[in-house]
Amino acid sequence: MGDSDISGDIAGGSSRHVPVMLNEVLAVLDGTPASSTRLRLVDGTFGAGGYSKAFLERGHLVLAIDRDPDAIRDGQELVRKYQDSLTLVKGTFSDMATIATLAGFGPVDGVILDIGVSSMQIDQAERGFSFQKDGPLDMRMSQSGVSAADVVNNIAQPDLTRLLGLLGEERRASHVARAIVRERDASAITTTDRLAGVVEKTLGRKPGDKIHPATRTFQALRIFVNQELEELGKALFAAEQLLCEGGRLIVVTFHSLEDRMVKHFFRNRAGTQQGSRHLPLVNQDDATFRLEGKGFFSASREEAQNNPRARSAKLRWGERTSKDFRNADMSIFGLPSLASLATLQSPGGQ
Ligand SMILES: C[S@@+](CC[C@H](N)C(=O)[O-])C[C@H]1O[C@@H](n2cnc3c(N)ncnc32)[C@H](O)[C@@H]1O
Repeated sequence: MGDSDISGDIAGGSSRHVPVMLNEVLAVLDGTPASSTRLRLVDGTFGAGGYSKAFLERGHLVLAIDRDPDAIRDGQELVRKYQDSLTLVKGTFSDMATIATLAGFGPVDGVILDIGVSSMQIDQAERGFSFQKDGPLDMRMSQSGVSAADVVNNIAQPDLTRLLGLLGEERRASHVARAIVRERDASAITTTDRLAGVVEKTLGRKPGDKIHPATRTFQALRIFVNQELEELGKALFAAEQLLCEGGRLIVVTFHSLEDRMVKHFFRNRAGTQQGSRHLPLVNQDDATFRLEGKGFFSASREEAQNNPRARSAKLRWGERTSKDFRNADMSIFGLPSLASLATLQSPGGQ
């Protein structure tokens, strides 16, 4: 089944988010020991419901979560259609264990995470994720809390340099941070266009450059505003807690910071990591996950051709063993310490 098969009544309409690597996700689920029965699945990133819909069509039970109120609103059609099989909850996937307990859902046969933003979020200028369209500098998936504008206008310059360097992998982070601070001293930066313009003016852009110079700055701000790395780390531990023996954790990521975390987590839990200074050595007898082969897939050439979002996607998965879940020790990820998001809210912010 190709991506184009997922159409019709997916949440929000047929021309919206195209699910990435869905065939591979379904193939991994088909391999679970319990696959001939009705699987209990947690879709931690409901989005436009592309994955959930495919799971429901196969007769599985789904607990779906999304932090974006728009995704929950647009998902109501699917909830009505599959009222006995789909529970859709607004929340963060780091809370999936609590959400599942409250919903009386668990232990589960599969947890699926499709990390990042949806096409709907990127395409709507008013959400402020994109430098391609002018909009308010927002970037909050949950539509509440500290916005990208709050960060850009309130963060100390050295903290901004660190953030852009570490989360955006921006090599000229100090130049960009200095330019942003100079600009905001004139007046607060509140739109995506203005921020993209400052970055472009600072870094320059050669004709024919495929990647906009503001890409890395926008990525860094988005990851920071949504605390995406912390969310992912906590979700991996929560999944370890929720999955039954033989259950599968499947994670699709779109950039190296996240993929590295997932890789480290699985190697740590499978007792196969070698010589990382961040990871305590684990005895293979205590492994909570079993890995198969190289443990990851990329999108097929055909999918990458049809859907540019799929080009950078990487799917990793592991199968839960019978061992008890282990400590949720975030230090295994070696995440950088950055400014505290909560302190950056502008007075009068939401
Ligand atoms: C790439 S889209 C998922 C698309 C989905 N698989 C589909 O086929 O339609 C990612 C979704 O995850 C949501 N999301 C991102 N981080 C989240 C978090 N920490 N908790 C809950 N939802 C999150 C976003 O709001 C977005 O709707």
